[in-house]
Amino acid sequence: MMSKGSKKTHFRELALAPSPAMLVESLRSIGYTLETALADLIDNSVTAEASTISVRFLWNNKSPWIAVVDDGCGMTPDELIAAMRFGSESPLIERSKNDLGRFGLGMKTASISQCRRVTVCSKSSGQVSACEWDLDRIADSESDEWLLGVLDDAAISTDIELKMLVDGCLASNDSGTIILWRNLDAMLAGTEHVDSEKKFSELMSNARSHLETVFHRFLSPEDGRKSLSIDFNKSPLSAYDPFGPSVPSRQELPTEKLVVEGETIVIQPFVLPHQNKVSRADYEKYAGEGGYLQNQGFYVYRNRRLIVKATWFRLIKKEELNKLVRVRIDIPNSLDHIWSINVDKSQVIPPEIVRKQLKNIIKRISGKGKQVYKRRASRLVDSGKVPVWTREVKEGNVKYAINVQHPLLKEVLDSAPSSLKPALESTYRMIADGFPRDVFFSDVASDGIEICADDSDEIAIKELVLQVLLALRKCGFEGVELRKRILETEIPGATEKLIDELLEGEE
Ligand SMILES: Nc1ncnc2c1ncn2[C@@H]1O[C@H](COP(=O)(O)OP(=O)(O)O)[C@@H](O)[C@H]1O
Ligand SMILES: [Mg+2]
Repeated sequence: MMSKGSKKTHFRELALAPSPAMLVESLRSIGYTLETALADLIDNSVTAEASTISVRFLWNNKSPWIAVVDDGCGMTPDELIAAMRFGSESPLIERSKNDLGRFGLGMKTASISQCRRVTVCSKSSGQVSACEWDLDRIADSESDEWLLGVLDDAAISTDIELKMLVDGCLASNDSGTIILWRNLDAMLAGTEHVDSEKKFSELMSNARSHLETVFHRFLSPEDGRKSLSIDFNKSPLSAYDPFGPSVPSRQELPTEKLVVEGETIVIQPFVLPHQNKVSRADYEKYAGEGGYLQNQGFYVYRNRRLIVKATWFRLIKKEELNKLVRVRIDIPNSLDHIWSINVDKSQVIPPEIVRKQLKNIIKRISGKGKQVYKRRASRLVDSGKVPVWTREVKEGNVKYAINVQHPLLKEVLDSAPSSLKPALESTYRMIADGFPRDVFFSDVASDGIEICADDSDEIAIKELVLQVLLALRKCGFEGVELRKRILETEIPGATEKLIDELLEGEE
């Protein structure tokens, strides 16, 4: 309680700007990788309605540079300066429908995550202007200010790399933008002891694959939209659609729509084709990095741009039986605020209302992926004949047992002397209980493994058929009935033709 005569509080406001030199260093480690940083620049080019985006790069004798050049709408000198400001547009303002931007930070933070010097040169209505953030200039500035470099025409034409890109790429278009990264310290950090040139080209090649996936819906034209062309040093990228080849054996499950705050989220599950249904090359291609098991899950697209892939959002675990299931989720940018999208756009967290729906969808579809395997597995255990093995389901538990009603097994048991019977029964039980469940399961679910009976030993198979014939005869079957019975009996490796040959041979 404040007593009479106690001191009055004085509140004052003090302008306390962050130290650019310090802040810029932390902004560098916001979480971008080379590939997500490049993707963010391409987002800007897409938003600027570019139809061609060229990624140019050169090792340049240990002074590598990377540039993203587009033929989009470009920026006027004033717009360029505004765009260079960190936080150029608030995340709270409403963006146009096709805008892939989010925080007004991407171009700057993505760039400085990879390099210490980013030069942006843009052309709009024929006018070329250029600006540059150089972290060394900021660090060295005595006044500790955000000192932006503004290049005039002379500065542009004496900058060798920039000039080359302006002449080679911007000159022929009315508008467009170049983002040039130099002093690429981050991506090559720690490579002093390895072949850093090789590392550079490896990183660029990984980035290429990443962009082929992230922008696949732009790279291959979708109905009514013009396609976008992206190239890496003039070699065009080709779309990589994680939903696999559009073949009949790919199951497209019905689309579900979810309306949140008046905006629609579209969800479509797919079950990719089993390896027996597509060429080996296609099967491997669509496995993706890390394989099918890793790549099951939801794929979230924001304005058709892939932002998060292969995750079940911790709703279920990734498991072998769902490994062919991939679910496409399309969200509009107008729902950014409920999805918690992070700055490098590599993460989203679905809001509770969506999680609920996703849970229901998982319940419904996770069986679908299983069916592909179940069909295979049931072929293996259920041939529609008097089986050697039986499969019994009790209270959700499956039990495999040796079928003592199989004519040959029954005959062996019946005709055995009583002193041997207990041992025989134990043997049958041991074979049944010793069924290698775990291995069988993983084999059924594994790529590249076909489970088959050993039907290579013809003599052994013939002998088996003859023994079954003998057993059936002992039960009194002859002629047509005998043939019918033996055809109804599972004899691994035996064909109808072989059985008929043996029957005829006996006559
Ligand atoms: N390639 C480009 N072409 C035209 N304008 C661009 C380009 N890149 C960036 N800009 C402009 O710079 C602004 C800031 O970009 P950025 O820092 O990535 O933030 P955001 O994309 O979230 O707006 C964009 O809103 C856009 O106006
Ligand atoms: Mg952006």
